[in-house]
Amino acid sequence: MTNITFLGQSSFLMETKGKTLLFDPMISFDKAGPEYQVNTLQPDYMLISHGHSDHLADAEAIGKASASTIISSFEVVSWFSTKGLKGHPMNIGGKFSFDFGQVKYVSAVHSSVLPDGTYGGPAGGFVIWNDDVSFYFAGDTALTMDMKLIPLTCPKLDFAILPLGDNFTMGYEDAVLAADFIACDHIIGCHYDTFDLIKLDHQKALETFEKAGKKLILPEIGKTFSI
Ligand code: NI
Ligand code: MN
Repeated sequence: MTNITFLGQSSFLMETKGKTLLFDPMISFDKAGPEYQVNTLQPDYMLISHGHSDHLADAEAIGKASASTIISSFEVVSWFSTKGLKGHPMNIGGKFSFDFGQVKYVSAVHSSVLPDGTYGGPAGGFVIWNDDVSFYFAGDTALTMDMKLIPLTCPKLDFAILPLGDNFTMGYEDAVLAADFIACDHIIGCHYDTFDLIKLDHQKALETFEKAGKKLILPEIGKTFSI
């Protein structure tokens, strides 16, 4: 059982093996609640899928207020290092053994540029596993055949966090196929409803997953759930 807190857009907070992981820190502080602020989060690691600001807007402030290590593409980590933040650079297809488990940085079909126009390297996602849990955080991506490599190269997934909002990423119809590609029946949705271009029809999304025999969780900002 893993406890996960949704902090808005694609940002999730979770603990595994005694380490706190924060994914794609752009946090809706107003909605997430007073306990989730830049100087109170104190994650051990910030995992950043790509350079777009809706995935890292709060990373610098959180990084400066904590001892957090950024895990991301070489280019994103290099950019944060010029701001004094520490990081662990990766590139697509590579994995590394951290003190909380294995991390494989996998491909995403998306773009990546940092807020000041610096090239962000390839956009990616993360597959993370240890002897308690195995999961996939897709970041922003289209449905892609590369997802079929995940069950061939990583332990069986307990759950996956997939974007559902369409327009900039896959929508829920493609996300159901993605769930098949990654051989995973427990999906947590993200990257929807934050602004008008990514409004999600919750009912249709839930029905589509149910028809496919899969469980879809549409998390609420600031709420913690178990999976
Ligand atoms: Ni993006
Ligand atoms: Mn995005």
